[in-house]
Amino acid sequence: MGKERMLVTGGHSLEGQVRVSGGKNTAVAVIPATLLSDEPCTIENLPDIEDVHALADILAELGAKVDYEPGRLMRIDPRPAEGISISYHNAQRLRASYYLLGSLLGRCGHAKIPTPGGCEIGTRPVDQHLKGFRAIGAEAGEIGGMLTAEGELTGGDVFFDMVTVGGTVNVMLAAAKAKGNTTIYNAAKEPHIVDLANFLNSMGARIKGAGTDIIRIRGVQYLHGSTYAVIPDQIETGTLMIAAAATGGDVIISGCIPTHMEALSAKLLEMGVKVTDSDDAIRVHVVGPRRAINVKTQVYPGFPTDLQQPMSALLTTAKGTSIVTETIFEQRFRHLDEIRRMGAHVRVMGRTAIIEGVSELYSAPMTATDLRAGAALIIASLMARGTSEIYEPGFIDRGYEHIEDKLRSLGAEIRREALL
Ligand code: EPZ
Repeated sequence: MGKERMLVTGGHSLEGQVRVSGGKNTAVAVIPATLLSDEPCTIENLPDIEDVHALADILAELGAKVDYEPGRLMRIDPRPAEGISISYHNAQRLRASYYLLGSLLGRCGHAKIPTPGGCEIGTRPVDQHLKGFRAIGAEAGEIGGMLTAEGELTGGDVFFDMVTVGGTVNVMLAAAKAKGNTTIYNAAKEPHIVDLANFLNSMGARIKGAGTDIIRIRGVQYLHGSTYAVIPDQIETGTLMIAAAATGGDVIISGCIPTHMEALSAKLLEMGVKVTDSDDAIRVHVVGPRRAINVKTQVYPGFPTDLQQPMSALLTTAKGTSIVTETIFEQRFRHLDEIRRMGAHVRVMGRTAIIEGVSELYSAPMTATDLRAGAALIIASLMARGTSEIYEPGFIDRGYEHIEDKLRSLGAEIRREALL
């Protein structure tokens, strides 16, 4: 695909109802997990996003039979897959390509994956993943740009030095069919960890404790096929909630899980925005001025780092001074350099951003540097006077399904055009 840009004309308040797509970060764990199955699987509610397309290509590259209907489902027959490695090109297409390390190790005791690509939001080491594989009986290392893992897995105790989503996923994948039991201490508790455990258990795995700090996995020999729908996307839900708040709108976000959104809902309420939950929908309704607040990113159930970028964009027009502290990734403020060009008053000092709310932003040309930075630029542009240009919108397509269509259906003026 050629180069493109997004054009967003601000000043329209978003109104109406919009449906959330399936979760990116759960899809990118569940799809590699199908390689552990001894029978075909069908994964439903997959978002039509670039990361999912890349994984369909990766499974096909490994020799699995993949029947993919974008935006709907993927049927995967892993039985013909013989590969233990994937191409550099495919590995670079998404961060989660490294989940193939855990799933191939669990499937055939051997995997060799080029170090992954993905969003540049910090150094993103993989030492904990490798340490986890070693703790359950593999030899694992990183050499010559390749991550390798090999061995007959016996299971074991894994103690993570910090809470890591990717490390927890990778060890769960590798350990599901190990010859013994595994306990993961200091495990990540994100909704997609629970979703992955539910999917593996639906195939006959024996995983307990997902959603708590300690996950216990009893290795099984055989995993049968399963038809499984992934949970709705927590970060897309949050991004739409922030977009509604940013434009002074009144939006119902349907098909979501409100309990996954409590950290964000609490912060929007603190800003003075009305948030009302029902069983599977959230209404975000702006009634008066939005107040400045302080935000500190934390592992789940704290405020998610993935929503820090859209949230800090929103805070650039809140009344007063906000302090945003990013504790998870060290380079997650690059969007603020761009939004500063729109007239935002922002100072970044290390992992802290001090944002003095301004009454108005002005449109500007800007570049998305990663997925959620792209979302943040859209939020800022929706608030700004005039038409902003967002370059590199391909980053946004990695994780948001048909974002322009969804926002347009709520009244936003947003379109994309090819660059000559
Ligand atoms: C996952 O990344 C998500 N990606 C990220 O979403 C999300 O921002 C992040 O979790 C935190 O919630 C996927 O699920 C595919 P971590 P991951 O391992 O797994 C350090 C998005 O925008 N660490 O939980 O890479 C690491 O540097 C993306 O959708 C090590 O030091 O995150 C970070 O500071 C971007 N060594 C912290 O742990 C390791 O071996 C948490 O990272 C692993 C991690």
